[in-house]
Amino acid sequence: MSVIALVNQKGGCAKSTTAVHLAYWLLHKQRNVLLVDADAQRSSSIWLESLEDTIACEVIQSPDLLLERIPQLAQQYDELIVDGPAGLSDATQSIVLCADLAVIPCQPSGVDLRSAADAVQLIRQAQASRNGAPLAAVFLSRAVKGTRLKEEAMGHLESLGVPILKTVIHQRQAIADTFGQTATVWELLGKASVEAAEEFEQLFQEIMALLEPA
Ligand SMILES: Nc1ncnc2c1ncn2[C@@H]1O[C@H](COP(=O)(O)OP(=O)(O)OP(=O)(O)O)[C@@H](O)[C@H]1O
Ligand SMILES: [Mg+2]
Repeated sequence: MSVIALVNQKGGCAKSTTAVHLAYWLLHKQRNVLLVDADAQRSSSIWLESLEDTIACEVIQSPDLLLERIPQLAQQYDELIVDGPAGLSDATQSIVLCADLAVIPCQPSGVDLRSAADAVQLIRQAQASRNGAPLAAVFLSRAVKGTRLKEEAMGHLESLGVPILKTVIHQRQAIADTFGQTATVWELLGKASVEAAEEFEQLFQEIMALLEPA
């Protein structure tokens, strides 16, 4: 039982996309997985309901309920994925107080890097009261290949002071299409989806490796 949360106050950085793909990937690794949708937009739970595979999902938005229910649900599943809301709300605080690992997707822009720094600060506060938990990691999300912005962002991420996942998830139409196609990249046809699936596979292996005992 581990609780992996996708957090970042910045909207559109791919928290829900990553959460849904991670839940799907874990299901296909024969893990008993539940996604907790903590976002008022409910995009990840609506998305999961639209998929052919059944992935358990619970919508929990209240900060108090998140604090109460996440540890309870974690007892019942191998992996709990929490899709955090936009905004550094009390709900995000509750999520990082319950998570084993907080993953911050970050787009390559100045505004996004600043938001990621705020998320890191919130995680640091939780770590101070929880003996160092949760673990934290950041990854570059929706980066456009071959741009200076991408190269600069990789450098700026280092200043956040949390481990940077080596895998970069690139901006790809195949990923943007998944929600509307009621699918994940693994179910879409074509070279672009295969490449996107390979990136997610690599990212998720890195994420799960962080949770393995040293
Ligand atoms: N790698 C990618 N390439 C192209 N489009 C992407 C990629 N990742 C996410 N998107 C698209 O970007 C938009 C925002 O993604 P998503 O909803 O996952 O972000 P979010 O962080 O959950 O946002 P919010 O904070 O509003 O909940 C969606 O339309 C999604 O399809
Ligand atoms: Mg979302």
